[in-house]
Amino acid sequence: MDKLIITGGNSLNGEIRISGAKNSALPILAATLLADTPVTIANLPHLHDITTMIELFGRMGVQPVIGEKLNVEVDASSIKTLVAPYELVKTMRASILVLGPMVARFGEAEVALPGGCAIGSRPVDLHLRGLEAMGAKITVEGGYIKAKAPAGGLRGAHYYFDTVSVTGTENVLMAATLAKGRSVIQNAAREPEVVDLANCLIAMGANIQGAGTDTITVEGVERLGGATYSVLPDRIETGSYLVAAAATRGRVKLKDTDPTILEAVLAKLEEAGAHIATGSNWIELDMKGNRPRAVNIRTAPYPAFPTDMQAQFISMNAVAEGTGTVVETIFENRFMHVHEMVRMGANIAIEGNAAIVTGVPSLKAAPVMATDLRASASLVIAALVAEGDTLIDRIYHIDRGYECIEEKFQLLGAKIRRTPK
Ligand code: EPU
Repeated sequence: MDKLIITGGNSLNGEIRISGAKNSALPILAATLLADTPVTIANLPHLHDITTMIELFGRMGVQPVIGEKLNVEVDASSIKTLVAPYELVKTMRASILVLGPMVARFGEAEVALPGGCAIGSRPVDLHLRGLEAMGAKITVEGGYIKAKAPAGGLRGAHYYFDTVSVTGTENVLMAATLAKGRSVIQNAAREPEVVDLANCLIAMGANIQGAGTDTITVEGVERLGGATYSVLPDRIETGSYLVAAAATRGRVKLKDTDPTILEAVLAKLEEAGAHIATGSNWIELDMKGNRPRAVNIRTAPYPAFPTDMQAQFISMNAVAEGTGTVVETIFENRFMHVHEMVRMGANIAIEGNAAIVTGVPSLKAAPVMATDLRASASLVIAALVAEGDTLIDRIYHIDRGYECIEEKFQLLGAKIRRTPK
């Protein structure tokens, strides 16, 4: 199993480009199942989760073709089976995103019910209720969700999400594009990745209003067709490199990104003492050699502070001046990284859903273990500011969501290498 070895102590300095967003690319790939002619997707990141989605398509008889400039073309008309098997779903919960498109386009689907996960229980009940509101009959048998559309196909419906759910909104939105009549999705997720999916669906011929607000209205259409669509930049990858630069008192310029989709994160970095400059597709952060100040954070659905950036800010607070409290309101078990950071000398107390972090002058290297994707990123940041060589185990988690992580950090001057032992 691969591990990362990081020698801490260097300030990050340099320029890198940001990849396409994993959490846009996954629903957009799923959306290609709705089209009856090929869809071409550009700016897909090279990530393990994307490979898993492509493998899932392969099992269903759909073979995406990698073309010029690594664009991926998907022709879903060759689909043979409407089953997402457990062995793939258990490695990637986002496989649930194929459920809505398959029921809407082909009238039925079987998708393994995702189990628990390292960051919380993460049920999918709201995805299923949304499809039921459109007339689908849903049962769970042998660990599989079996969904069937009524004769004549899904019907448009009004559906209110009890809890804001990103992939839940995406599943119901995709299903609604081919349902008969109007659907209104209330308390919809407003994440930029939902908007990106909606824009791709619109390019494919869907009639959608209100994406990016909490009410999305969809007029169902007869068919969706081919389009070429470029995935938006990854705001969490962007934020992770910015926080790494802030924690190491460095200066970085990130290109091919979008400063307008991570305002809550940029505001917290400024509060921590970072000097930030932005252009239409770049962000530059400069700590001018200063130690960051600890910040208080409360995670919540977009446009508030993202849960996917919480772990990285705990690393920064761990070496900052002062004390910062980080409250996690989305997932009930998303502090596993804290126990690893404490092994590196961090001063962090957990009280319920809050982590109270008091900065120490520096962390000390220790062998640590990654438990989920964003926890892995936070351990890389902790290692970059620690004295000595930190060995991070189970980094397969990081390969799910960070493209070329060693290469990008090396370009910024970090001492980081992968070892297969
Ligand atoms: N929830 C329910 N029932 C549902 C769906 C969600 O109770 O049917 C609850 C969840 O348990 C959670 C809350 O609603 O407490 C919000 O979860 P959400 O459904 O929004 O999460 P998700 O769609 O499964 C996506 C991202 C996550 C990100 C969350 C929150 C993708 C593929 N995944 O997950 O990304 O943390 O939204 O923003 O878009 C990551 O990239 O590392 C990651 C975990």
